[in-house]
Amino acid sequence: MNLFKRTNRTQEKEDLQRRVNELPWHHQIDFGEGVLSPGNTPIGVLRNQADVYFDGIIHGKTFLDIGAWDGFNSFEAHRRGASRVLATDHFAWSEQCWGDRRAFDLARSRIAPEVEVMDIDIPEMNHETVGRFDVVLFAGVFYHLRHPFAVLEQISDLAKEWLIVETHLDALDYDRPSMVFYPTNELANDNTNWWGPNPACVIAMLKDVGFTTVEYVVHPNHPNRGIFRAKR
Ligand SMILES: C[S@@+](CC[C@H](N)C(=O)[O-])C[C@H]1O[C@@H](n2cnc3c(N)ncnc32)[C@H](O)[C@@H]1O
Repeated sequence: MNLFKRTNRTQEKEDLQRRVNELPWHHQIDFGEGVLSPGNTPIGVLRNQADVYFDGIIHGKTFLDIGAWDGFNSFEAHRRGASRVLATDHFAWSEQCWGDRRAFDLARSRIAPEVEVMDIDIPEMNHETVGRFDVVLFAGVFYHLRHPFAVLEQISDLAKEWLIVETHLDALDYDRPSMVFYPTNELANDNTNWWGPNPACVIAMLKDVGFTTVEYVVHPNHPNRGIFRAKR
């Protein structure tokens, strides 16, 4: 590469990093060639989670990401060979949150323009508005809901084969299916957090809403979080 081309390339990378840095990020996303978004969830954690979510089940499948935020999991499903990916969110892309849809849009345009996107709030999600998908991911959303069991029942209808739930957990020393209620900001000083289920509770709920088997894995980086892969 001649000096002119190298200088041009360096300039392009610096410009992209500057555009990235102007936006707020939840996901640390790798744009290639050393350009990284300053997300508060490190890329190593995101990759470890994705290894559990997608292991052996995503290639050639349709995939719905509920609560996609900056889109790491959607881009990762696409990279791993999903046949169709739909990224949805609303809260994180609205005035209610510090997130910004422009971050998702910038990452999508650079990493996976094939990923489809829909701004839709969870109460409006059903098989008529979004359709049904082979694999549905519901990561980091369960404990933000006032009525998580009702929503689990609602979104289970969107999953033809697999529903993957990632959540904060509580009551880990209690064997019976249980959930701890956080009336204010007891969990992480965040008053959008309402519930901390234990693993037995998530497994029982997933079976109740129609799944026959549920694989449970302790989160690879956070012992108080769990990943549940429920199969029809
Ligand atoms: C912790 S983020 C998880 C983002 C992504 N799925 C992940 O695992 O990295 C929480 C997600 O839940 C969504 N959400 C939906 N309803 C919410 C509510 N009432 N309060 C807070 N977040 C909500 C947010 O928009 C956001 O995408």
